[in-house]
Amino acid sequence: MALKNSNPTTTQSWKELTNHFKDIQNINIKDLSKEEHRKEDFSIEFGDLLVDFSKNRITKKTIHLLVELAKEVGLKEAIESQFTGDKINVTEDRAVMHTALRSTSDVPVLVEGKNIKPQIQTALRKIKSFSNKVISGKWKGYTGKSITDIVNIGIGGSDLGPDMIVESLQFYKNQLTTHFVSNIDGDHVSEIIKKLNPETTLFVIVSKTFTTQETITNAETLKNWFLKSATIFDIPKHFVAVSSNLQAVDNFGIDKSNVFPMWDWVGGRFSLWSAVGLSISLSVGFNNYKALLEGAEEMDIHYRNEDFDKNIPVILALISIWYNNFYLAETEAVLPYSQYLKKLPDYLQQAIMESNGKGVDRNGDKVDYQTGTIVWGSTGTNMQHAFMQLVHQGTKLIPADFIGYKQSLYGLTDHHKKLMANYYGQMEALAFGKSKEEVHLELKFSGDEAKINQLLPFKVFEGNRPSNAILFDKLTPRSLGKLVALYEHKIYTQGILWNIYSFDQFGVELGKELAKNLLNKQ
Ligand code: F6P
Repeated sequence: MALKNSNPTTTQSWKELTNHFKDIQNINIKDLSKEEHRKEDFSIEFGDLLVDFSKNRITKKTIHLLVELAKEVGLKEAIESQFTGDKINVTEDRAVMHTALRSTSDVPVLVEGKNIKPQIQTALRKIKSFSNKVISGKWKGYTGKSITDIVNIGIGGSDLGPDMIVESLQFYKNQLTTHFVSNIDGDHVSEIIKKLNPETTLFVIVSKTFTTQETITNAETLKNWFLKSATIFDIPKHFVAVSSNLQAVDNFGIDKSNVFPMWDWVGGRFSLWSAVGLSISLSVGFNNYKALLEGAEEMDIHYRNEDFDKNIPVILALISIWYNNFYLAETEAVLPYSQYLKKLPDYLQQAIMESNGKGVDRNGDKVDYQTGTIVWGSTGTNMQHAFMQLVHQGTKLIPADFIGYKQSLYGLTDHHKKLMANYYGQMEALAFGKSKEEVHLELKFSGDEAKINQLLPFKVFEGNRPSNAILFDKLTPRSLGKLVALYEHKIYTQGILWNIYSFDQFGVELGKELAKNLLNKQ
């Protein structure tokens, strides 16, 4: 079924939201927090995940109207279209099936009349058996030694997803050392080469198109380096590829049996659930990789079936639209309180900004409202000593997601208590601030009245700065899968509401083209 095509700003709900915004735009989170059951009414619990969105400039009416908007633009039908294999990536004439990659149900998913589930299962079996061979040391390099190092060669979605997951699941890692080469900057690959022994290195070239300049250049450089010590007959033991361009892979010299599939119906930035995740499976073992997929599937089922007012990705998407389109907030911060998640903001920048950074609607008309949010962030507590000053006292409204875990992995409880005290402390400071009276009381004993009055304005925190608390029990492959899928569904929800296409990325092409032209002129 085709996606509904309507300008959201012309809907009845948008009009009502506009009036509602006029009524409540100066509402204060501190006052809202005094409402009875505020926390319970504005929280959603889903297994090991609790999302508390009570510290936002919203009332029950706001949520009601936003949910009405989602209904009016046909979100429910759009979600079904995605899950059932409709070609919702209209501009590239493709289905968008990353959810099928992690589906364990037997229900067939048809893309152009063909059930894609069997090929997904075959690919998973191949990933499993290959990972097991490499991890166990049975897979030997050209001098008979086992593999010690994996090099993932890719860029964009063929790099950021696997890199972020491997970093996030470091606690679950095996003995293999995993490296990621992406940048065309030759210093990147040169630094990696310094750490490698050709006899014990496995190269995983990940490129859906197998034409991406960065990836092919890096792959050629690494192949040439490898061939300084080995011969072309040794390539099958050391080079594998993940791609949908079999001809180009063959031309590169990779053995057919060493090719893992990628399909048209999986977009680059949503591809870590496919064989693009091979480096993940090699790094943490297939069982952990499977658990990651299972966590994502849990979120898929929740997203597909839950009512919108209890649906985590939908609610977070709607709140973000509230700030983006009504308060005209320019950016959003993602702030994980786990050092393991330090690459999550980078990963989400591609996922979110490449998807929803569009200025033309589904009719091909220029939009006259704001779309894709600018996303940025870093880990707590480090960022508290970096950019949080601006978030607390600057002139910009920056809604923030605080991602946290109830338990730490190494069990250093003293550290964890302090970490989580900061997690909650930051959200409270943002929401409730510190009034003139409180500052005055604090300074009362430390100076004369004139000095106090001079300092006072600088020490006041206005507060009323929104945040969502996204709290899991523990960082596991499963909970990580759930988290990533949450953001994927938030992206799609927002794309539907903004009436844009989230799954193409034509905006990245012009720069590539011009770089090629310039190169040809040299
Ligand atoms: O430049 C953008 C992009 O097309 C991304 O969408 C994609 O993830 C990346 O390049 C890499 O593409 P490929 O997997 O084809 O090398």
